[in-house]
Amino acid sequence: MKRIGVLTSGGDCSGINATLKSIVEEAYRNNIRVTGFLEGYNGLVNNLAIELTPMQVSGILQRGGTILMTSRCEEFQTDNGFKKALKTLEEEKIDGLIVIGGDGSLRGAQKIAQAGVVTVGIPESIDNDIYGTDMALGVDTALNIITNAIDIIRDTASSHKRAFVIETMGRECGYLALMSAMASGAEAVIIPEIEYDLDSIMNRLKSEHERGRKYSIVVVAEGTKATQETTRKLKEEAGFDTRLTVLGHIQRGGNPSVFDRTLGMRMGIKAVQSLISKKTSMIGLNGNDLKNISFDTVFSNKKTFNETMLEFARLKSR
Ligand code: ADP
Ligand code: F6P
Repeated sequence: MKRIGVLTSGGDCSGINATLKSIVEEAYRNNIRVTGFLEGYNGLVNNLAIELTPMQVSGILQRGGTILMTSRCEEFQTDNGFKKALKTLEEEKIDGLIVIGGDGSLRGAQKIAQAGVVTVGIPESIDNDIYGTDMALGVDTALNIITNAIDIIRDTASSHKRAFVIETMGRECGYLALMSAMASGAEAVIIPEIEYDLDSIMNRLKSEHERGRKYSIVVVAEGTKATQETTRKLKEEAGFDTRLTVLGHIQRGGNPSVFDRTLGMRMGIKAVQSLISKKTSMIGLNGNDLKNISFDTVFSNKKTFNETMLEFARLKSR
């Protein structure tokens, strides 16, 4: 292994830069040079290669986003685009590749591996929907931002006797909504994984209100597409003075938490070591240990919530 490549693809998150720093530093400790490909798979398709040295990754550990930039690249998914990507890897004399990204990006990594390039994936997505890792990079920071936002909104909710609907990200996954609802003591939560009953939630919140509760917080995962209906029902049917806050992209950026910094640094080191020992795989966090998980395992299983979380979700969604 003389030269490795790295790219960041799909939605960004906090902790990627810490990961890039540790990849470069671990590579240099092993006399390996690093090429960064800019803008995700676009950097492979159109050869946007840059040299990444320890100097270039100094001072980035605490910064959100990704210094390599990212994209969603349709051309990579065409036959011609994929061929161009493989040609770039050959031209740049890449002996192994690290892909930092979410589910789609990791599927791309698997495809490159199947074409014969040793490839390691680092799971990164605030949605935490990737099988094989307890936590993906960026999830913890996003959860801290969301929980802090709900704490702040609660001040206004309680001062004005209001109901608040708070929409979290999570394209098809309710992890962020569920965990932040638990951490912030929300009164109700609506996620795609659990059947919810809006009428029953309205009745419960109304009766809690009659018994003296001064405000209500309802956390809704964007993947349910139930935000507007929940807000309308709280206003028109339950009669609450209701406001809606869609948290949006503030959930994806900002300085990474200690957890995401250290997770990223550990995953980066493990990824380089895995390339050296030619272990094509995804790096997964299992308890406190990092493991090599085969791409086949990652894509033939679906991530689920544990029973305690499911029970909490059931209680709060009716
Ligand atoms: P994420 O990695 O955050 O899930 P996307 O699903 O948008 O984000 O995927 C990012 C990029 O990964 C896509 O733009 C595409 O270039 C590549 N990709 C996605 N799905 C596949 C796939 N099934 N096979 C090959 N490449 C894929
Ligand atoms: O996959 C991460 C994520 O932030 C989802 O939670 C969200 O639905 C999506 O990306 C938003 O994507 P974009 O930044 O392209 O609008």
